[in-house]
Amino acid sequence: MLTVAQKAIITATVPLLETGGEALTTHFYRILLGEHPEVRPLFNQASQANGEQPRALANGVLMYARHIDRLEALGDLAAQIVNKHVALQVLPEHYPIVGACLLRAIREVLGAEVATDAVIDAWAAAYDELANLLIGAEAAAYDRNASAPGGWRGARPFRVARKEAESDEITSFYLEPVDEQPVLDFEPGQYISLCLQVNGQEVRRNYSLSAAPNGRSYRISIKREPGGVVSNHLHDEVHEGSTLDVFPPSGAFTLAHSERPLVLISGGVGITPTLAMLESALRTARPIRFVHCARSHKVHAFRASIDALAKKHPQLERFYCYEEAPQPRSDAQPHAVGRLDAQTLSQWMPAAKQDVRDVDAYFLGPKPFMRQVKRSLRELGVPEHQVRYEFFGPASALD
Ligand SMILES: Cc1cc2nc3c(=O)[nH]c(=O)nc-3n(C[C@H](O)[C@H](O)[C@H](O)COP(=O)(O)OP(=O)(O)OC[C@H]3O[C@@H](n4cnc5c(N)ncnc54)[C@H](O)[C@@H]3O)c2cc1C
Ligand code: HEM
Repeated sequence: MLTVAQKAIITATVPLLETGGEALTTHFYRILLGEHPEVRPLFNQASQANGEQPRALANGVLMYARHIDRLEALGDLAAQIVNKHVALQVLPEHYPIVGACLLRAIREVLGAEVATDAVIDAWAAAYDELANLLIGAEAAAYDRNASAPGGWRGARPFRVARKEAESDEITSFYLEPVDEQPVLDFEPGQYISLCLQVNGQEVRRNYSLSAAPNGRSYRISIKREPGGVVSNHLHDEVHEGSTLDVFPPSGAFTLAHSERPLVLISGGVGITPTLAMLESALRTARPIRFVHCARSHKVHAFRASIDALAKKHPQLERFYCYEEAPQPRSDAQPHAVGRLDAQTLSQWMPAAKQDVRDVDAYFLGPKPFMRQVKRSLRELGVPEHQVRYEFFGPASALD
């Protein structure tokens, strides 16, 4: 339990972390990944290289320090961390390793004059408190996943039952459990994690479930990333009949129950969770606008299946925006060319009443696209609390 004096020290350290937080966590990750090969497979090396992961953790630590007196205010952030940790199978035994590296990094970055024994003790106590909070929430999530129908704990082998190209760069993998038993249901928008051996190294990656739950199998749809370790391995080395180790579904980017019109907006492979959401929403009567942006027709995945759904379900209207102008005679014309902006989006959204568009909007895609969509939705009068999004990587600020 943190003492009043320790809380005061933590509060006083916040400005220091706000200016030096990222350097601190960059140094921390260098120690952690350099000296503890046992936790390396959990971390995506690309997120380390571009600084996203250190920034995400810096943000986690800062938010905690800012709210040290009322941890309940952390609400969504704690849930987000727990979801990420559970997806990648962070375990209680990992916490002391991370804690020791964090404290060492604080000492080394701040120097002995600032990082006195009292400061280090306060942060050690704070880390323990936060770690216990996360370990408890994570244990509850692991238990829920293990005890629910079709559930399991840790890795479960799945066979690739079918592999299907959806565009020049996206391929779907249909996964069935090797034990032929039912699989855990999930909320549309959630993702599973794969644990693989690539070039003799263990790696883990998250993939959104791209079809609604059916109790027997999962579908994921994967974009080949230039230079990407896992996506290229899956495209080139994993075939029908191969087996993959899968961790249970996780994630908080889920379709909330609502009768409001639903607007799903995606860019590129960001389409995957919106497909499961769309399928599930089509079982209700709510009007749906499905907006998808792609560089061109060649990399536009699932066009035929969305078109077929729109034909079958009058409640669904779909709109496509291609960055590159298509051939004039192509029969796969988009509804707009260029980058999606507020003006185009406004024409595809239900009309505003007194400057408010009472819709639920969900979006996902490359970061610049997400920034633009967030701005546009605000400009078009969609209430902030009715807008939800997720990142295909560590979370970061969009504003
Ligand atoms: C919740 C969630 C859901 C997701 N859902 C999907 C999905 O449905 N479909 C999908 O395709 N993806 C999805 N992703 C992304 C997915 O998890 C992987 O990040 C993606 O497949 C890339 O992994 P990779 O191993 O191929 O690439 P990585 O090896 O991780 O590399 C990614 C990029 O970084 C570059 N890079 C790698 N290492 C370095 C380095 N050291 N220095 C500089 N650059 C480097 C690579 O060249 C590449 O361009 C999701 C991610 C999350 C978090
Ligand atoms: C109190 C301790 C911890 C805090 C405050 C914390 C905080 C965070 C935050 C804020 C994120 C980003 C979440 C997001 O992107 O949405 C994250 C992700 C992650 N954390 Fe932690 N974490 C802690 C402990 C640990 C431990 C013990 C491990 C295990 C070694 C771990 C492994 C990871 C991994 C693997 C990710 C995802 C990284 C990626 O996307 O590459 N964390 N954590």
